[in-house]
Amino acid sequence: MRRVVAFAALAVACGGEEPKVPPQVPQRPVPVRSEGLASFETVRAVLQNPRCQNCHPGGAAPLQGDEGRLHAMNVLRGPTGHGMAGAECTTCHGPGNPPSNYGFHIPPGVADGWHMPKPEEKLVFVGLAPRALCEQIKDPARNGGKGMPALRKHLDTPLVTWGWNPGFGRKPVPTPYATFISAWETWAASGAPCPD
Ligand code: HEC
Ligand code: HEC
Repeated sequence: MRRVVAFAALAVACGGEEPKVPPQVPQRPVPVRSEGLASFETVRAVLQNPRCQNCHPGGAAPLQGDEGRLHAMNVLRGPTGHGMAGAECTTCHGPGNPPSNYGFHIPPGVADGWHMPKPEEKLVFVGLAPRALCEQIKDPARNGGKGMPALRKHLDTPLVTWGWNPGFGRKPVPTPYATFISAWETWAASGAPCPD
């Protein structure tokens, strides 16, 4: 008898509805593979933007402009990526972009020394299919021994951030920097999957 009363009281208290369970929203859900792959596509588009891939070609010379023409004046990568004796990158590329009133076609610069990857670790972005690009980026044997945390740190360095402030007359990378970084982090958190 008491049981029946208690039950009836409960039913009244709940208004006859199912008891409500508070929604459980995890703070940072681990992204699934499909999200990781979509994020890698955002990353890929940045890496293969002219501002980035002009320093990441397969050949011996850096590239220039949106069409990726060979660098003028016979400029070459050289033995360490810093150019040839007498034609080092920093001979022309200073510690920052010159002021806009210098006009077009002035060499841009960065604080920690303009250079391209060395010949034995070329880090080629030009012309690579998404899967090959993805595998190369992650491969410590080809990326200078970097794991995912070191790669992430590299994205804060001046040669990379320059792509969003490339100097007068050059188009910055169109994907906002914050979007690029968050896409990279989602890709990494999902296990850095590579597309098929
Ligand atoms: C002036 C030349 C230059 C430009 C421009 C440049 N990079 Fe690089 N990048 C390098 C060099 C050199 C390295 C090798 C590491 C080092 O010496 O700093 C490198 C390494 C990297 C790496 C790590 C290597 C890997 O494959 O795992 C990533 C990622 C990268 N760059 C992304 C970018 C992005 C994104 C941009 C454009 C926003 C960019 N780079 C523009 C010169 C450049
Ligand atoms: C003799 C001077 C000189 C030397 C040496 C030189 N550069 Fe340049 N570089 C320039 C000039 C000038 C520009 C601008 C060209 C323009 O805007 O049309 C330029 C532009 C570039 C760009 C194009 C940026 C873009 O996205 O369009 C890259 C990349 C570059 N240089 C890389 C290098 C690298 C790497 C080295 C060394 C291996 C180097 N340069 C050595 C003069 C030089």
